[in-house]
Amino acid sequence: MAIIGKNIEEAKKALENAGLVAIPTETVYGLAANALDTHAVLKIYEAKNRPFFDPLIVHVGNIDQVSEYAVLSDERLIKLANCFWPGPLTLLLPKKATVPDIVTSGLDRVAIRIPNHSLTLDLLKEISYPIAAPSANPFGYVSPTEPAHVNKQLGHKVDYILDGGKCNVGVESTIVGIEDGEVCIYRLGGLSVEDIESCVGKVELRINLSSDPKAPGQLKNHYAPSKSLFIGNIEDLHRNNPGKKIAAIVFGKHNTNLKDLTYFNLSKKGDLNEAAVHLFTTLRTIDEGDFDLIIAELLPDTGLGRAVNDRLKRAEVKV
Ligand code: TXA
Ligand code: MG
Repeated sequence: MAIIGKNIEEAKKALENAGLVAIPTETVYGLAANALDTHAVLKIYEAKNRPFFDPLIVHVGNIDQVSEYAVLSDERLIKLANCFWPGPLTLLLPKKATVPDIVTSGLDRVAIRIPNHSLTLDLLKEISYPIAAPSANPFGYVSPTEPAHVNKQLGHKVDYILDGGKCNVGVESTIVGIEDGEVCIYRLGGLSVEDIESCVGKVELRINLSSDPKAPGQLKNHYAPSKSLFIGNIEDLHRNNPGKKIAAIVFGKHNTNLKDLTYFNLSKKGDLNEAAVHLFTTLRTIDEGDFDLIIAELLPDTGLGRAVNDRLKRAEVKV
């Protein structure tokens, strides 16, 4: 198991030795390495068992550093950066040669963000290089939102876990870039479409649900617990699975009360942000519990409800 603590010097020391450090962000925990050290970055892919065609997000401490690694020239993206950084926004920008190809899987754009967590921002102030960090989970599994999640699955592979408590957004950052002259959202996440549109006007959704490696980042079987998950009407799904031990993920004033179901309400008061915070912890709890399968109803498709629904759909059994 890894050492867990709040010591930035320890984290820095591990990074300096080409090691891996789990870092807290407002979205989920990241598995960080020096982004300019290809040897260290390789370790991220190995630890996660992640295919090399799936590129990594580069985290920097302030907006002035972005120009060292990427071209931030589009006015709309500059506006978004100014509005929402530090925060759950990742920008896909033309890459500069300073970023090793292994970080971007050979693509000509690099994903960059400034995370909004004081410990990680303090760490970024202490170092002279950016950090590459995917979510700190084995490839394809649910992302971690607290140090214990990381320790359990990757503790033997990381040198230090920087303990920033529980993540207060709970789903990964929203990924935005320019394509065909339009602002596009490639991954729904912790910054809502509505917030983005209030800043730059109408945007296009290019959310990929395929498993085409040329469109990385959006592999369809992702964020998945090991138990089978089915989406739909809770009563119907319950009826279709007689004799099974079922965990039901619901939201708000859910009105069925089936005796042999165990209910997990993502937010009893119907708060979509709270639902996002609880989603991944709930999936983990259920995965570790005595259940045969998971059934879930979708949330309203607004605000962070969209990101939660996206994660549930990716976690769903594909037939
Ligand atoms: O909230 C987050 O974004 C968290 C925290 C740790 O920052 N990170 C995260 O990283 O979710 P990861 O690797 O689990 O997801 C990043 C997604 C990947 O699916 C990847 O394919 C996509 O971003 N991505 C990264 N760089 C890209 C690039 N150059 N072009 C296209 N997609 C990219
Ligand atoms: Mg991930």
